[in-house]
Amino acid sequence: MPGTYLLWVMAPEIASEAQPGQFVMVRTSEGYDPLLRRPLSIHRVARGEREHGALALLFAVVGRGTNWLAQRKEGEAIDLLGPLGHGFKVDPPPRNLLLVAGGVGIAPLVFLAQRGIAEGHQVALLLGASAKAQLYPAHLIPPEVNLLVATEDGSVGRRGMVTHLLADHAPGAEQVFACGPISMYQALADMSRKGMFEGKSVQVSMEVRMGCGRGACYGCALETKSGLRLVCKDGPIFELKDLIW
Ligand SMILES: Cc1cc2nc3c(=O)[nH]c(=O)nc-3n(C[C@H](O)[C@H](O)[C@H](O)COP(=O)(O)OP(=O)(O)OC[C@H]3O[C@@H](n4cnc5c(N)ncnc54)[C@H](O)[C@@H]3O)c2cc1C
Ligand code: FES
Repeated sequence: MPGTYLLWVMAPEIASEAQPGQFVMVRTSEGYDPLLRRPLSIHRVARGEREHGALALLFAVVGRGTNWLAQRKEGEAIDLLGPLGHGFKVDPPPRNLLLVAGGVGIAPLVFLAQRGIAEGHQVALLLGASAKAQLYPAHLIPPEVNLLVATEDGSVGRRGMVTHLLADHAPGAEQVFACGPISMYQALADMSRKGMFEGKSVQVSMEVRMGCGRGACYGCALETKSGLRLVCKDGPIFELKDLIW
């Protein structure tokens, strides 16, 4: 995935408490430029004895902060705050979970897949990208996951948007979890209006610019059907039906 980085950090307190869908605020400078921390989802936590206490971040370089982070070398220390926000809500008992990832939106969903499988759920993942080179590597996805791929140029999997896979896979799922660009959520909202997810919970991870990440600055306020919500504190996971499109 050119321009995308996978970074493992040893952070035992955060890793032990983290829930899928939560995020960390990362300080992305040694000085004050950029001043504000950047929010990144917790991508996965280590399972093995040796790596215990480690967590991974998966991020695309889009500006100064992520560019700084991409240049960190093994052994350096970085400053993280977390885990923050409310994660995905998976209802018991064990059931069929459908995960929908657009591009780097795979970031929080691998952790959810890991946890879902550990709790006895069946997990299917619809993974979409513009082309094969931009696809998250399949060998990093837990082998128990039923993986289905779509690329916009058809270089691997079905040609088209990842949401095109939903007609075949949404009916068998009890809960749907999505992370990707706003255009993907708009497509989900359209499908929802047409009855695709009747009676199902569809949870999406909202991406907005954040200041503090802890409910203090109101920089991430979002108008929802149930009033003004803070993405950092009330989210970043929201029910699709509560959002205004
Ligand atoms: C809860 C949450 C979790 C996130 N998890 C991940 C993740 O796991 N992996 C990942 O790659 N990215 C993630 N993001 C997005 C990430 O925070 C931004 O890409 C990052 O802050 C950009 O910082 P920068 O300094 O590199 O870019 P900047 O120089 O600040 O901005 C560069 C460009 O990116 C846009 N941008 C910056 N921040 C955001 C944002 N939060 N939302 C939308 N557009 C933005 C700007 O408008 C600008 O066009 C997440 C965002 C949120 C809110
Ligand atoms: S980022 Fe400050 S209140 Fe949410």
